[in-house]
Amino acid sequence: MPSDELVSQLNEQIGHEFAAHQQYVACAVYYDSETLPQLARFFYRQALEERDHAMMLVQYLVDQDLQAVVPGVNAPQVAFTDIVAPVTLALAQEREVSQQINALAARARSENDYTSEQFLQWFIKEQIEEVATMSDLLRVVERSQDHAMDIEDYLAREQLGQVAADPTAPHPAGAGG
Ligand SMILES: [Fe+2]
Ligand SMILES: [Fe+2]
Repeated sequence: MPSDELVSQLNEQIGHEFAAHQQYVACAVYYDSETLPQLARFFYRQALEERDHAMMLVQYLVDQDLQAVVPGVNAPQVAFTDIVAPVTLALAQEREVSQQINALAARARSENDYTSEQFLQWFIKEQIEEVATMSDLLRVVERSQDHAMDIEDYLAREQLGQVAADPTAPHPAGAGG
């Protein structure tokens, strides 16, 4: 069983994931307002993934009869100086989450809580992908900053961040099946 401290850190992570959800919705809305539908679509989809991450953590706690606390979150950034800024923010956020997940896994291991450590392994793998995806997008957006339609074409063509269904993914609370 996770210690009280680990449970409270897992609950904090639920808050970080919901905050990431809100931030990505805000990025998507910004791009929609700039009439950049592919960038908007990318961030709407990323937002849903963040919600799933939060709900996976909720399910994990519920499954173990531990208290899952649904948190309030800080307001996301909604104004951006240019079309690069949301991606820069997103990459920084993903790097931060990677550190948070690694800290959780380290704590689980130090507590000999192999169940939680194994649960967190999926998130470690997921973070590697998310950081890579955002790094790729940042490179594309920086390169074509003054040619936004090239970015739109790239996203329409390359399906960046679209991953096939992962049977090893933890179950998000409330998801069908
Ligand atoms: Fe996440
Ligand atoms: Fe993420």
